[in-house]
Amino acid sequence: MSILDNRPELAREVEQVAEVAGYLWQKGWAERNGGNITVNVTQHIDDAIRAMPAISEPRPIGFTLPNLKGCYFFCKGTNKRMRDLARWPMDNASFIRILDDCAHYEIIADKPVAPTSELPSHLAVHNYLIGKGSNYKASVHTHPIELVAMSHCKKYLEKDVATRLLWSMIPETKAFCPRGLGIIPYQLPSSNELAESTIKELGDYDVTLWEKHGVFAVDTDVMAAFDQIDVLNKSAQIYICAKNMGFEPDGMSDEQMREMTVAFNLPK
Ligand code: 13P
Ligand code: ZN
Repeated sequence: MSILDNRPELAREVEQVAEVAGYLWQKGWAERNGGNITVNVTQHIDDAIRAMPAISEPRPIGFTLPNLKGCYFFCKGTNKRMRDLARWPMDNASFIRILDDCAHYEIIADKPVAPTSELPSHLAVHNYLIGKGSNYKASVHTHPIELVAMSHCKKYLEKDVATRLLWSMIPETKAFCPRGLGIIPYQLPSSNELAESTIKELGDYDVTLWEKHGVFAVDTDVMAAFDQIDVLNKSAQIYICAKNMGFEPDGMSDEQMREMTVAFNLPK
């Protein structure tokens, strides 16, 4: 028996997470257990699921998150590998229910797989998204090689320097990551401080770069969040490739960027 039995919409969410987990591994962004994914699946939850008994004790989130009352999430398990999540999603992730105090969660299905250590960041972000009436349901954290490499240089950590550089490498990057790349100064992985600074930047950006660690992206679904990271990292690869050929790439001119912004009806 699985929670996914006779629930095609919920099963589709899990399939999409598994598909993206496979891409993260293939891209080399998910060494060992690196990265995590959570999806707000509350819209697919029926009365039978609401009545399901917990299969774990209540556990603290680390925050009180009032907008998450009654919400359900599908979460990668801590210490679980993306490459395993791709093939056996229900052995490497679990569904959790937020308790009425909004400060604890419990696991409800299928197996008592403990959620990712980055749960504070993920849940705080979902709480923020609901609070602002967003239709975003998915958050993805991963370790894309070239973007992480860039985060080791102070110059690229200044506000919007990396955004402008990456947008100028190929026109589609601004088209498909129109809010750019927010920068989060280094914080301890899985800490509440990391969660809090991520939320601050998500007011202006869908994708944030965690200095010397990885990226954290949000979007309507897991595939869309992956795509935003993918286009940014592609631009980083083009930049690095040009540097390796021995020259500083020109980048698109301001005029070319303006023309593109108008043609694609993008924010300034
Ligand atoms: P988890 O295995 O706990 O999801 O952690 C992976 C990670 O990338 C932490 O930042
Ligand atoms: Zn990480």
